[in-house]
Amino acid sequence: MKRLMLCAVTASAIFTAATAAERQYTLTLTPQEDSHVISRMIYGQFAEHLGACIYEGIWVGEDSDIPNTNGYRNDALEALRELAVPVLRWPGGCFADDYHWRDGIGARDTRPTLINNNWGGTKEDNSFGTHEFFNLCEMLGIEPYLSVNVGSGTVAEAAEWIEYITAPNGPRADERAANGRKEPWKLKYVGIGNESWGCGGEMRPEYYSDVYRRYNVYMRNQPGNRLYRIASGASDYNFNWTETLMKQIEPHRMDGISLHYYTVSDWGHKGSATDFTDDVYYTTVGKALEIEPVIEHHREILDKYDPQGKVGLLVDEWGTWFDEEPGSTPGHLLQQNTMRDAIVAALTLNIFNRQADRVRMANIAQLANVLQTMWITDGDKLFTTPTYHVFRMYRPHMDARYIPVMLETEFIRDANGRDVPTLSATASQASDGSATITLVNPTLDIREQIDIPLPDGIPSRIASAHILTAPDARSKNTFESPDAVKTEQFKDAKIKSGKLNLTIPPLSIVSVTLSND
Ligand code: AHR
Repeated sequence: MKRLMLCAVTASAIFTAATAAERQYTLTLTPQEDSHVISRMIYGQFAEHLGACIYEGIWVGEDSDIPNTNGYRNDALEALRELAVPVLRWPGGCFADDYHWRDGIGARDTRPTLINNNWGGTKEDNSFGTHEFFNLCEMLGIEPYLSVNVGSGTVAEAAEWIEYITAPNGPRADERAANGRKEPWKLKYVGIGNESWGCGGEMRPEYYSDVYRRYNVYMRNQPGNRLYRIASGASDYNFNWTETLMKQIEPHRMDGISLHYYTVSDWGHKGSATDFTDDVYYTTVGKALEIEPVIEHHREILDKYDPQGKVGLLVDEWGTWFDEEPGSTPGHLLQQNTMRDAIVAALTLNIFNRQADRVRMANIAQLANVLQTMWITDGDKLFTTPTYHVFRMYRPHMDARYIPVMLETEFIRDANGRDVPTLSATASQASDGSATITLVNPTLDIREQIDIPLPDGIPSRIASAHILTAPDARSKNTFESPDAVKTEQFKDAKIKSGKLNLTIPPLSIVSVTLSND
């Protein structure tokens, strides 16, 4: 019996994928004035002191031969600008609970060189610290998201860090000024610990809740700077962690609670980033899609303790996690990125758009050279990944009003019994009236024709249309072929009799923006 099958939603018909090379669907847009706005923060990034993410991936130092501006590599700055990155989480991850911020301030040649105990025992020279992070964010208009050390730090250390960054005057402000920065920086998002159930201190949820409450008291708002406080949340299916925190911290002491969810190839098995079978392609996509029921279950718990919806669910680590690149430094989590990663990213972003009334931030792991990365570097060379192109394509959804969509799709059952829909869609309308519809065809061999009747209030002129596709799920960019997978103009979109009609190939992401001008 074939393990891959295509079955109608109603389960009335079952086809093998090979017998169904072309399908036709209708997508219904149902704009609602009171539907949620998709916060741009769900298109956030995460940069940890891990492998070559910060060092080489972003920061090369002012004396480097690699073209840079104030120590930040120019090609990375350009990519950050292209993505319009809204928020950047730093310095970890597991690293955050080992990080003592005073090691990363003052003249660089006086900063201590330490060992990164979490990630490969690599040297950490602390040349990228508080000033380097906040100046980068300020230069690019990115919201900084700081993760403070709870696991091995002290309450006083965390409180002083917040003061050093945000106080307009006082001893910590004087210290900051002596280090070259008179004005305080703006800081909104603060995570109180990271994975406190694991690398962040192996705490029990009851204990962590009390620890959180203590940190929360002393991490003070400064004049003109109100902190958005984020509790270190659960991973995957640890619903008890969320329940205990909601009950014992209580919603009035937090603005957000985090959630981590990583996509591996198969049950508990990471697998190769580039060398996988078609079956494994579908099990990876199936695992990625399971983030939605996981989010829904955590949401139900939030609803129980916070029916007003004050507390945001922040998916501040997500993405694919495969085996490290063969030959790379162990513990640096360098992984290649293929069209499979692009499909995972797009399907996940569609889910975040849908859930964005409670999911108020998300941060893909990680920005450079680590896990589901936006770019990979080698010395002065840099190429962007298929996932980078997805984030570029989704920019029109940032801060746009979500348009609910209805779609009767079919499913491919993966080898683990999860159902992968043959089509996924998301839509939103920006404040200027333009509407963007993004479709994902995750199948390996089905061409799809989609009819989208355009309701009142949705413009009927195609302003732009793009596609990201590749001949194979294993297709990737490399230093030799940096543009093997990249967005192209999409030609198979037309408007006829009040309908947008698209024909999209297998393994593709298509985005169409409609406008009146
Ligand atoms: O992103 C890599 C690691 O994954 C992070 O440091 C940690 O929080 C998670 O376990």
